[in-house]
Amino acid sequence: MIALGADHGGFCLKEAIIEYLKRNNIEYKDYGCYSEESVDYAVYAKKVADAVAGGEAEKGILCCGTGIGISIAANKVKGIRAAVVTNEFCAEMTRRHNDANILAMGGRVISPETAVKLTDIFLNTEFEGGRHERRIAQIAMIENGEDL
Ligand code: RB5
Repeated sequence: MIALGADHGGFCLKEAIIEYLKRNNIEYKDYGCYSEESVDYAVYAKKVADAVAGGEAEKGILCCGTGIGISIAANKVKGIRAAVVTNEFCAEMTRRHNDANILAMGGRVISPETAVKLTDIFLNTEFEGGRHERRIAQIAMIENGEDL
C-alpha cells in the first residue's frame, strides 16, 4: 500500500497521483487533505510517515507547496527517509542510493504531469544496496544518537 498525504499547496499533485495509482491498480490510502482549504502540512506528514515507519505502507508520497516543509516534518519520524524531488534523475537516484521511503514534491514547483512521472520512477526503482547499505545504516546511527 502507498500512503498519500498533502497540504493545500500539494493537493493538486495528490489528485493527479491518485489517478495514476488507480489506472495502474496500485493500492493506496489517502490521508488527506481533501480540498484546497488551508491546512498545516506537518499533520499530513506525520500520518503518512507513521504509516510507512510502522510498516502499514510500503512507501509514502507527500506533497506541499514546495515539498520542503512536509519532507522536513516527515523526516522527524524515526526510520523515515523522505526526499524532495523535482526531476527524473533525482527520483531514480533517491531510490537507488538513499533507499528513500517517502517521495516529497511541490505543487508550486512542478506540474501534475511531472509529479506522476516522478512517482512512476520512484515506485519502480529498486535500492542498489552494496556500499549504500553502510550509508543508510549511518543515517540510522545519527537518528539513534550514536557516534559514526
Ligand atoms: C503553505 O503555504 C506552504 O508553506 C507549504 O505548502 C509548503 O510549501 C511548506 O514547505
